[in-house]
Amino acid sequence: MKKVWRLFSVLMVATVLVGMLAACSGTTGGSSSKVSVGIVLPTKDEPRWVQDEKRFIDALSDSDYTTEILFSQGSSAKEKENVETLLNKGIEVLIIAPHDGAAAGSAVEAAKKEGVTVISYDRLITETDAIDYYVTFDSVAVGAAQGQYLIDNAKGTNVPLYLYAGASSDNNAFLFFEGAWKVLQPKIADGTFVIANSSEAVALKDKQELTRDELGKILGQVTTNWDPNEAINKAQTHLTAAADNLKGDVAILAPNDGTARSIADVFGSDSDISSFIVTGQDAEKASIQYIIDGKQSMTVFKDVRTLVSDAIGMAIDVLDGKTPATTGSYNNGKVDVKAKQTNVIVVDDENVKKELIDSGYYEASEFTGL
Ligand code: BGC
Repeated sequence: MKKVWRLFSVLMVATVLVGMLAACSGTTGGSSSKVSVGIVLPTKDEPRWVQDEKRFIDALSDSDYTTEILFSQGSSAKEKENVETLLNKGIEVLIIAPHDGAAAGSAVEAAKKEGVTVISYDRLITETDAIDYYVTFDSVAVGAAQGQYLIDNAKGTNVPLYLYAGASSDNNAFLFFEGAWKVLQPKIADGTFVIANSSEAVALKDKQELTRDELGKILGQVTTNWDPNEAINKAQTHLTAAADNLKGDVAILAPNDGTARSIADVFGSDSDISSFIVTGQDAEKASIQYIIDGKQSMTVFKDVRTLVSDAIGMAIDVLDGKTPATTGSYNNGKVDVKAKQTNVIVVDDENVKKELIDSGYYEASEFTGL
């Protein structure tokens, strides 16, 4: 019995130590236990958000302010819990990229009640007035760049066009699709492209400006939910159902790199697909390798360093009692949120080295065949 108890005590001590280490792992700057800036990111499962975490840690390494980064792992409940944890540590500013833009309302309302300044990061929190600022990339431009890339690289007419989108709970998914649709629609109307996998998109093919409801109908059919596995399943289903005239040389609007690689793998293994152009976004390392290897056509590079420094700059202004500079505003369904917006860069095999290696964003040694 004694032995069992000793083993139990050792295990308890080990658990507490591991817990302490885990709790500290996301904290940077200062030494007191009070945290000035809390950062909440949607999930560690997508390299995109791990990039953000790394850039936050780099940017804050010699800062005097203490910060802590927590991940919500694709759960709004976990996100709310994270915000509460940070509120208990006395944060004055919350930087948050919501898992679900509308569901995050209650978490930021709790923060506002404590007098915390809320900065929505990359994804807009919708349907609440409990938000002070928004730092973002130009998401409509991301979608437009994806659509334009398909137009510039498709050959001939009646090119089958497969459409995919992000999660409907993410406001960005609407903005990306809206941007892509605006440029693609005239090329659908003139017969350059034939929509292959969405009856809702076919029904709207003569309309260039879509309402949110109309966009929602298309997204409802072609969403990947930002999940690479869901993207694989959808792509397989679409290819199984596609008639011969929808195979051959095709164009694919894939919303981001994670889903692009999945979709590219499915299309690449169908012997009736002779070639495909596929879009992406985020400049994830794995997709940079896919671009070098000719398996993904392009990505939209969103320099996370800029977004991080904008968010941190805003937070520091707030902590110093200054008003952060903004460049415009976004309506979130309830209020106009003051925003700072950053441009994006299209990357393909022509400029991948210049934009991502020579610029110092990634190391050449992280890739093969450059
Ligand atoms: C972000 C993208 C990301 C996607 C999935 C979007 O809100 O803007 O960069 O790929 O979410 O996480």
